[in-house]
Amino acid sequence: MGSGMTEKTLPAGELHSLILDLLCALGTPDDLAGLVTGALVEANLTGHDSHGLVRMPAYAQSVREGKVHPEVRASVVSRRGATACVSANRGWGQTAGRVAAEEASEIAGELGVGAVVLQESPHVGRLADYVELIARRGRVAMAATNAWVNVAPFGGRDRRLGTNPIAFGIPRAADRPPIVSDFATSVVAEGKLQVARAYGRSVAPGAIVDSEGRPTQDPEEFYSGGALLPAQGYKGYGLAVAIEALGGALSGMGPAMLADYGDGNGMFVLALEIEAFASVERFVSQIEQMAQALLDAPTAPGVDEVLLPGQLELRTREQRERDGIPIPAGTWDAIAQLAEELDVSIPSV
Ligand SMILES: NC(=O)c1ccc[n+]([C@@H]2O[C@H](COP(=O)([O-])OP(=O)(O)OC[C@H]3O[C@@H](n4cnc5c(N)ncnc54)[C@H](O)[C@@H]3O)[C@@H](O)[C@H]2O)c1
Repeated sequence: MGSGMTEKTLPAGELHSLILDLLCALGTPDDLAGLVTGALVEANLTGHDSHGLVRMPAYAQSVREGKVHPEVRASVVSRRGATACVSANRGWGQTAGRVAAEEASEIAGELGVGAVVLQESPHVGRLADYVELIARRGRVAMAATNAWVNVAPFGGRDRRLGTNPIAFGIPRAADRPPIVSDFATSVVAEGKLQVARAYGRSVAPGAIVDSEGRPTQDPEEFYSGGALLPAQGYKGYGLAVAIEALGGALSGMGPAMLADYGDGNGMFVLALEIEAFASVERFVSQIEQMAQALLDAPTAPGVDEVLLPGQLELRTREQRERDGIPIPAGTWDAIAQLAEELDVSIPSV
Protein backbone atom coordinates (compact mmCIF):
# COMPACT_ATOMS: atom_id res chain seq x y z
CA MET A 1 0.00 0.00 0.00
CA GLY A 2 1.08 3.68 0.05
CA SER A 3 3.64 5.21 -2.31
CA GLY A 4 6.27 6.18 0.22
CA MET A 5 5.06 9.79 0.51
CA THR A 6 6.86 11.31 -2.45
CA GLU A 7 5.55 14.02 -4.73
CA LYS A 8 4.84 12.90 -8.31
CA THR A 9 4.53 14.67 -11.62
CA LEU A 10 2.02 13.12 -14.01
CA PRO A 11 1.56 13.90 -17.70
CA ALA A 12 -2.04 15.02 -18.38
CA GLY A 13 -2.72 11.89 -20.46
CA GLU A 14 -1.79 9.58 -17.57
CA LEU A 15 -3.83 11.61 -15.11
CA HIS A 16 -6.79 11.35 -17.50
CA SER A 17 -6.52 7.54 -17.76
CA LEU A 18 -6.17 7.18 -14.00
CA ILE A 19 -9.25 9.27 -13.15
CA LEU A 20 -11.26 7.64 -15.95
CA ASP A 21 -10.41 4.16 -14.66
CA LEU A 22 -11.33 5.12 -11.08
CA LEU A 23 -14.68 6.56 -12.18
CA CYS A 24 -15.50 3.54 -14.34
CA ALA A 25 -14.55 1.20 -11.46
CA LEU A 26 -17.06 3.14 -9.34
CA GLY A 27 -19.79 2.20 -11.83
CA THR A 28 -19.86 5.30 -14.04
CA PRO A 29 -20.84 4.70 -17.70
CA ASP A 30 -18.01 5.55 -20.13
CA ASP A 31 -19.54 8.73 -21.57
CA LEU A 32 -20.33 10.24 -18.16
CA ALA A 33 -16.95 9.16 -16.80
CA GLY A 34 -15.32 10.95 -19.76
CA LEU A 35 -17.10 14.21 -18.90
CA VAL A 36 -16.27 14.09 -15.18
CA THR A 37 -12.67 13.15 -15.97
CA GLY A 38 -12.39 16.04 -18.43
CA ALA A 39 -13.51 18.47 -15.71
CA LEU A 40 -11.09 17.12 -13.10
CA VAL A 41 -8.10 17.06 -15.46
CA GLU A 42 -8.94 20.58 -16.66
CA ALA A 43 -8.93 21.72 -13.00
CA ASN A 44 -5.45 20.23 -12.49
CA LEU A 45 -4.20 21.60 -15.80
CA THR A 46 -5.39 25.14 -15.05
CA GLY A 47 -3.74 25.10 -11.62
CA HIS A 48 -6.89 24.54 -9.54
CA ASP A 49 -5.64 21.32 -7.94
CA SER A 50 -8.38 21.82 -5.34
CA HIS A 51 -10.85 20.58 -7.97
CA GLY A 52 -8.83 17.82 -9.60
CA LEU A 53 -7.48 14.43 -8.55
CA VAL A 54 -7.54 15.38 -4.85
CA ARG A 55 -11.35 15.05 -4.94
CA MET A 56 -11.46 11.38 -5.98
CA PRO A 57 -11.34 9.77 -2.49
CA ALA A 58 -14.25 11.93 -1.30
CA TYR A 59 -16.16 11.30 -4.55
CA ALA A 60 -15.67 7.54 -4.09
CA GLN A 61 -16.91 7.89 -0.51
CA SER A 62 -20.04 9.71 -1.75
CA VAL A 63 -20.75 6.83 -4.14
CA ARG A 64 -20.30 4.26 -1.35
CA GLU A 65 -22.60 6.23 0.93
CA GLY A 66 -25.27 6.37 -1.78
CA LYS A 67 -25.06 10.17 -2.02
CA VAL A 68 -23.93 10.03 -5.66
CA HIS A 69 -25.44 7.54 -8.13
CA PRO A 70 -22.75 7.28 -10.79
CA GLU A 71 -24.94 5.79 -13.50
CA VAL A 72 -27.74 8.38 -13.22
CA ARG A 73 -28.21 11.10 -15.84
CA ALA A 74 -29.42 14.67 -15.40
CA SER A 75 -32.77 15.75 -16.83
CA VAL A 76 -34.70 18.93 -17.57
CA VAL A 77 -37.57 18.73 -15.09
CA SER A 78 -39.49 21.86 -16.06
CA ARG A 79 -39.42 24.69 -18.55
CA ARG A 80 -41.34 27.98 -18.43
CA GLY A 81 -40.62 30.87 -20.81
CA ALA A 82 -36.91 31.60 -20.69
CA THR A 83 -36.38 29.50 -17.57
CA ALA A 84 -35.78 25.86 -16.80
CA CYS A 85 -35.09 23.60 -13.83
CA VAL A 86 -32.53 20.88 -14.36
CA SER A 87 -32.07 18.04 -11.91
CA ALA A 88 -28.86 16.09 -11.48
CA ASN A 89 -31.03 13.35 -9.96
CA ARG A 90 -28.03 12.79 -7.63
CA GLY A 91 -25.81 11.66 -10.52
CA TRP A 92 -22.40 13.33 -11.06
CA GLY A 93 -22.61 17.13 -10.67
CA GLN A 94 -20.12 17.83 -13.45
CA THR A 95 -22.35 16.15 -16.04
CA ALA A 96 -25.49 17.83 -14.67
CA GLY A 97 -23.82 21.25 -14.61
CA ARG A 98 -23.11 20.86 -18.32
CA VAL A 99 -26.75 20.00 -19.01
CA ALA A 100 -27.82 23.13 -17.10
CA ALA A 101 -25.35 25.30 -19.03
CA GLU A 102 -26.37 23.80 -22.38
CA GLU A 103 -30.03 24.35 -21.54
CA ALA A 104 -29.46 28.00 -20.51
CA SER A 105 -27.47 28.60 -23.70
CA GLU A 106 -30.10 27.00 -25.92
CA ILE A 107 -32.94 28.98 -24.34
CA ALA A 108 -30.93 32.21 -24.74
CA GLY A 109 -30.49 31.35 -28.43
CA GLU A 110 -34.28 31.16 -28.79
CA LEU A 111 -35.42 33.92 -26.45
CA GLY A 112 -32.44 36.22 -25.82
CA VAL A 113 -31.96 35.13 -22.22
CA GLY A 114 -31.92 31.75 -20.51
CA ALA A 115 -32.02 31.31 -16.73
CA VAL A 116 -31.67 27.82 -15.31
CA VAL A 117 -31.41 26.36 -11.82
CA LEU A 118 -29.77 23.05 -11.03
CA GLN A 119 -31.18 20.92 -8.21
CA GLU A 120 -30.50 17.52 -6.60
CA SER A 121 -26.85 17.96 -7.45
CA PRO A 122 -23.69 16.90 -5.66
CA HIS A 123 -20.44 18.84 -6.22
CA VAL A 124 -20.38 20.49 -9.68
CA GLY A 125 -16.66 21.35 -9.55
CA ARG A 126 -15.35 24.54 -11.17
CA LEU A 127 -17.90 27.02 -12.43
CA ALA A 128 -15.47 28.12 -15.16
CA ASP A 129 -16.43 25.00 -17.12
CA TYR A 130 -20.05 26.10 -17.41
CA VAL A 131 -19.58 29.78 -18.21
CA GLU A 132 -16.88 28.87 -20.72
CA LEU A 133 -19.19 26.38 -22.43
CA ILE A 134 -21.76 29.17 -22.93
CA ALA A 135 -19.23 31.87 -23.88
CA ARG A 136 -17.69 29.57 -26.49
CA ARG A 137 -21.13 29.55 -28.13
CA GLY A 138 -20.97 33.34 -28.36
CA ARG A 139 -23.15 34.18 -25.34
CA VAL A 140 -22.42 36.08 -22.15
CA ALA A 141 -22.67 33.80 -19.12
CA MET A 142 -22.96 33.93 -15.37
CA ALA A 143 -23.11 31.06 -12.90
CA ALA A 144 -23.20 30.88 -9.13
CA THR A 145 -23.64 28.02 -6.69
CA ASN A 146 -24.16 27.59 -3.00
CA ALA A 147 -22.25 24.87 -1.19
CA TRP A 148 -21.79 23.09 2.17
CA VAL A 149 -21.27 25.38 5.17
CA ASN A 150 -17.61 26.29 5.54
CA VAL A 151 -17.62 30.09 5.83
CA ALA A 152 -18.36 32.40 8.75
CA PRO A 153 -20.70 35.34 8.09
CA PHE A 154 -18.96 38.76 8.28
CA GLY A 155 -18.39 39.45 11.98
CA GLY A 156 -19.25 35.86 12.96
CA ARG A 157 -16.94 32.98 13.78
CA ASP A 158 -18.68 29.71 12.95
CA ARG A 159 -19.67 28.16 9.62
CA ARG A 160 -23.01 29.38 8.23
CA LEU A 161 -22.40 29.83 4.46
CA GLY A 162 -20.88 27.92 1.56
CA THR A 163 -17.78 29.10 -0.28
CA ASN A 164 -20.41 30.08 -2.89
CA PRO A 165 -18.42 30.78 -6.07
CA ILE A 166 -19.56 33.09 -8.85
CA ALA A 167 -18.29 33.04 -12.42
CA PHE A 168 -18.67 35.04 -15.63
CA GLY A 169 -17.79 34.12 -19.20
CA ILE A 170 -17.37 36.83 -21.84
CA PRO A 171 -16.96 35.93 -25.51
CA ARG A 172 -14.06 37.52 -27.39
CA ALA A 173 -13.19 37.80 -31.07
CA ALA A 174 -13.02 34.50 -33.00
CA ASP A 175 -10.03 32.30 -32.09
CA ARG A 176 -9.58 33.96 -28.70
CA PRO A 177 -10.62 32.06 -25.58
CA PRO A 178 -13.38 33.81 -23.60
CA ILE A 179 -12.57 36.00 -20.60
CA VAL A 180 -13.43 33.90 -17.55
CA SER A 181 -13.74 35.29 -14.02
CA ASP A 182 -14.38 32.49 -11.55
CA PHE A 183 -13.81 32.57 -7.80
CA ALA A 184 -15.19 31.59 -4.44
CA THR A 185 -16.73 34.38 -2.35
CA SER A 186 -14.60 33.15 0.57
CA VAL A 187 -10.91 34.13 0.69
CA VAL A 188 -10.12 30.80 -1.00
CA ALA A 189 -12.04 27.66 -2.00
CA GLU A 190 -12.20 24.96 0.69
CA GLY A 191 -10.37 22.56 -1.64
CA LYS A 192 -7.32 24.85 -1.47
CA LEU A 193 -7.15 24.06 2.25
CA GLN A 194 -7.26 20.36 1.35
CA VAL A 195 -4.32 20.92 -1.00
CA ALA A 196 -2.36 22.90 1.64
CA ARG A 197 -3.04 20.07 4.07
CA ALA A 198 -1.84 17.45 1.54
CA TYR A 199 1.44 19.40 1.13
CA GLY A 200 1.69 20.05 4.90
CA ARG A 201 1.75 23.81 4.12
CA SER A 202 0.22 26.76 5.94
CA VAL A 203 -2.46 28.89 4.26
CA ALA A 204 -2.27 32.61 3.48
CA PRO A 205 -2.96 34.95 6.41
CA GLY A 206 -6.54 36.19 6.67
CA ALA A 207 -8.17 33.11 5.09
CA ILE A 208 -9.27 31.08 8.12
CA VAL A 209 -10.02 31.27 11.85
CA ASP A 210 -9.86 28.53 14.49
CA SER A 211 -12.88 27.27 16.44
CA GLU A 212 -12.63 30.28 18.78
CA GLY A 213 -12.65 32.74 15.88
CA ARG A 214 -8.93 33.54 16.21
CA PRO A 215 -6.89 34.06 13.00
CA THR A 216 -4.72 31.06 12.07
CA GLN A 217 -2.72 29.81 9.07
CA ASP A 218 -2.88 26.14 10.04
CA PRO A 219 -5.34 24.22 7.78
CA GLU A 220 -5.74 21.59 10.56
CA GLU A 221 -7.41 24.29 12.70
CA PHE A 222 -10.01 24.72 9.97
CA TYR A 223 -10.73 20.98 9.95
CA SER A 224 -11.06 20.90 13.73
CA GLY A 225 -13.96 23.33 13.99
CA GLY A 226 -12.60 26.52 12.41
CA ALA A 227 -14.08 28.46 9.49
CA LEU A 228 -13.12 30.18 6.25
CA LEU A 229 -13.68 33.94 6.09
CA PRO A 230 -15.59 35.77 3.35
CA ALA A 231 -13.44 37.41 0.63
CA GLN A 232 -13.00 41.16 1.20
CA GLY A 233 -15.04 41.09 4.40
CA TYR A 234 -18.62 42.24 4.03
CA LYS A 235 -18.42 42.36 0.21
CA GLY A 236 -17.78 38.64 -0.19
CA TYR A 237 -20.31 38.08 2.57
CA GLY A 238 -22.95 40.08 0.66
CA LEU A 239 -22.33 38.06 -2.51
CA ALA A 240 -22.42 34.77 -0.60
CA VAL A 241 -25.81 35.64 0.90
CA ALA A 242 -27.20 36.54 -2.54
CA ILE A 243 -25.87 33.23 -3.90
CA GLU A 244 -27.61 31.29 -1.11
CA ALA A 245 -30.83 32.88 -2.43
CA LEU A 246 -30.10 32.38 -6.17
CA GLY A 247 -28.42 28.98 -6.05
CA GLY A 248 -29.89 27.66 -2.80
CA ALA A 249 -33.45 28.90 -2.27
CA LEU A 250 -34.38 29.34 -5.96
CA SER A 251 -33.18 25.87 -6.95
CA GLY A 252 -34.96 24.10 -4.12
CA MET A 253 -31.65 22.85 -2.64
CA GLY A 254 -32.12 25.40 0.13
CA PRO A 255 -29.63 27.74 1.85
CA ALA A 256 -26.70 25.76 3.23
CA MET A 257 -27.18 26.66 6.93
CA LEU A 258 -30.75 25.30 7.09
CA ALA A 259 -31.65 21.85 8.38
CA ASP A 260 -33.36 20.93 5.09
CA TYR A 261 -30.41 21.97 2.88
CA GLY A 262 -30.13 19.45 0.03
CA ASP A 263 -26.48 18.51 0.68
CA GLY A 264 -24.90 19.68 -2.57
CA ASN A 265 -24.44 22.51 -5.07
CA GLY A 266 -27.61 24.44 -5.91
CA MET A 267 -26.53 26.29 -9.03
CA PHE A 268 -27.96 29.25 -10.95
CA VAL A 269 -26.92 29.73 -14.58
CA LEU A 270 -27.68 32.70 -16.81
CA ALA A 271 -26.99 32.97 -20.54
CA LEU A 272 -27.45 36.16 -22.57
CA GLU A 273 -27.66 36.36 -26.36
CA ILE A 274 -25.57 39.40 -27.27
CA GLU A 275 -27.65 40.46 -30.28
CA ALA A 276 -30.76 40.75 -28.08
CA PHE A 277 -29.02 43.69 -26.37
CA ALA A 278 -26.32 45.09 -28.63
CA SER A 279 -24.64 44.77 -32.01
CA VAL A 280 -22.43 41.66 -31.77
CA GLU A 281 -19.71 43.33 -33.82
CA ARG A 282 -19.62 46.40 -31.58
CA PHE A 283 -19.76 44.29 -28.41
CA VAL A 284 -16.82 42.15 -29.48
CA SER A 285 -14.84 45.17 -30.65
CA GLN A 286 -15.39 46.90 -27.29
CA ILE A 287 -14.40 43.78 -25.34
CA GLU A 288 -11.19 43.54 -27.39
CA GLN A 289 -10.42 47.22 -26.82
CA MET A 290 -11.10 46.80 -23.10
CA ALA A 291 -8.83 43.75 -22.91
CA GLN A 292 -6.03 45.65 -24.63
CA ALA A 293 -6.48 48.71 -22.40
CA LEU A 294 -6.20 46.50 -19.31
CA LEU A 295 -3.17 44.58 -20.58
CA ASP A 296 -1.49 47.90 -21.47
CA ALA A 297 -2.04 49.35 -17.98
CA PRO A 298 1.14 50.52 -16.24
CA THR A 299 2.02 48.07 -13.47
CA ALA A 300 2.17 48.72 -9.75
CA PRO A 301 5.63 48.58 -8.13
CA GLY A 302 6.93 45.00 -7.99
CA VAL A 303 4.37 43.66 -10.50
CA ASP A 304 5.51 42.36 -13.91
CA GLU A 305 2.28 42.62 -15.86
CA VAL A 306 -1.47 43.07 -15.64
CA LEU A 307 -3.44 39.92 -16.49
CA LEU A 308 -7.00 39.44 -17.66
CA PRO A 309 -9.29 37.26 -15.52
CA GLY A 310 -8.75 33.69 -16.67
CA GLN A 311 -5.33 34.38 -18.20
CA LEU A 312 -3.38 32.75 -15.38
CA GLU A 313 -5.33 29.52 -15.94
CA LEU A 314 -4.54 29.58 -19.69
CA ARG A 315 -0.83 30.01 -18.93
CA THR A 316 -0.80 27.31 -16.28
CA ARG A 317 -2.52 24.93 -18.71
CA GLU A 318 0.15 25.56 -21.33
CA GLN A 319 2.93 24.95 -18.82
CA ARG A 320 1.38 21.83 -17.28
CA GLU A 321 0.54 20.31 -20.68
CA ARG A 322 4.24 20.58 -21.37
CA ASP A 323 5.76 19.72 -17.96
CA GLY A 324 3.10 17.57 -16.29
CA ILE A 325 0.94 18.01 -13.21
CA PRO A 326 2.46 17.99 -9.71
CA ILE A 327 0.66 15.67 -7.29
CA PRO A 328 1.48 16.13 -3.59
CA ALA A 329 2.51 13.06 -1.60
CA GLY A 330 -0.60 13.23 0.61
CA THR A 331 -2.92 13.17 -2.42
CA TRP A 332 -0.91 10.44 -4.12
CA ASP A 333 -1.04 8.14 -1.10
CA ALA A 334 -4.82 8.54 -0.80
CA ILE A 335 -5.18 7.81 -4.54
CA ALA A 336 -2.90 4.76 -4.36
CA GLN A 337 -5.06 3.39 -1.58
CA LEU A 338 -8.29 4.08 -3.49
CA ALA A 339 -6.85 2.48 -6.64
CA GLU A 340 -5.97 -0.63 -4.66
CA GLU A 341 -9.49 -0.84 -3.22
CA LEU A 342 -11.00 -0.50 -6.69
CA ASP A 343 -8.45 -2.78 -8.34
CA VAL A 344 -7.25 -0.04 -10.67
CA SER A 345 -3.60 0.10 -11.69
CA ILE A 346 -1.74 3.35 -11.10
CA PRO A 347 0.95 4.90 -13.33
CA SER A 348 4.45 3.91 -12.21
CA VAL A 349 6.08 7.35 -12.43
N1 LIG B 1 -18.51 23.69 -6.61
C1 LIG B 1 -18.22 24.27 -5.48
O1 LIG B 1 -18.82 24.01 -4.44
C2 LIG B 1 -17.11 25.30 -5.43
C3 LIG B 1 -16.96 26.07 -4.27
C4 LIG B 1 -15.94 27.03 -4.24
C5 LIG B 1 -15.09 27.22 -5.33
N2 LIG B 1 -15.28 26.44 -6.43
C6 LIG B 1 -14.36 26.61 -7.57
O2 LIG B 1 -13.03 26.67 -7.08
C7 LIG B 1 -12.21 27.34 -8.01
C8 LIG B 1 -11.19 28.15 -7.28
O3 LIG B 1 -11.78 29.23 -6.57
P1 LIG B 1 -10.85 30.27 -5.79
O4 LIG B 1 -11.69 31.33 -5.22
O5 LIG B 1 -9.96 29.51 -4.87
O6 LIG B 1 -9.98 30.83 -7.01
P2 LIG B 1 -8.83 31.93 -7.02
O7 LIG B 1 -8.74 32.64 -5.72
O8 LIG B 1 -7.62 31.25 -7.56
O9 LIG B 1 -9.36 32.99 -8.10
C9 LIG B 1 -9.47 32.60 -9.43
C10 LIG B 1 -9.86 33.77 -10.31
O10 LIG B 1 -8.97 34.87 -10.10
C11 LIG B 1 -8.30 35.18 -11.33
N3 LIG B 1 -6.94 35.63 -11.03
C12 LIG B 1 -6.03 35.00 -10.24
N4 LIG B 1 -4.87 35.71 -10.23
C13 LIG B 1 -5.06 36.79 -11.03
C14 LIG B 1 -4.23 37.90 -11.41
N5 LIG B 1 -2.98 38.02 -10.99
N6 LIG B 1 -4.76 38.84 -12.22
C15 LIG B 1 -6.03 38.72 -12.67
N7 LIG B 1 -6.86 37.69 -12.35
C16 LIG B 1 -6.38 36.75 -11.53
C17 LIG B 1 -8.31 33.89 -12.10
O11 LIG B 1 -8.09 34.08 -13.47
C18 LIG B 1 -9.73 33.39 -11.78
O12 LIG B 1 -10.71 34.06 -12.53
C19 LIG B 1 -13.17 28.09 -8.92
O13 LIG B 1 -13.12 27.44 -10.17
C20 LIG B 1 -14.55 27.91 -8.29
O14 LIG B 1 -15.62 27.81 -9.21
C21 LIG B 1 -16.26 25.49 -6.50
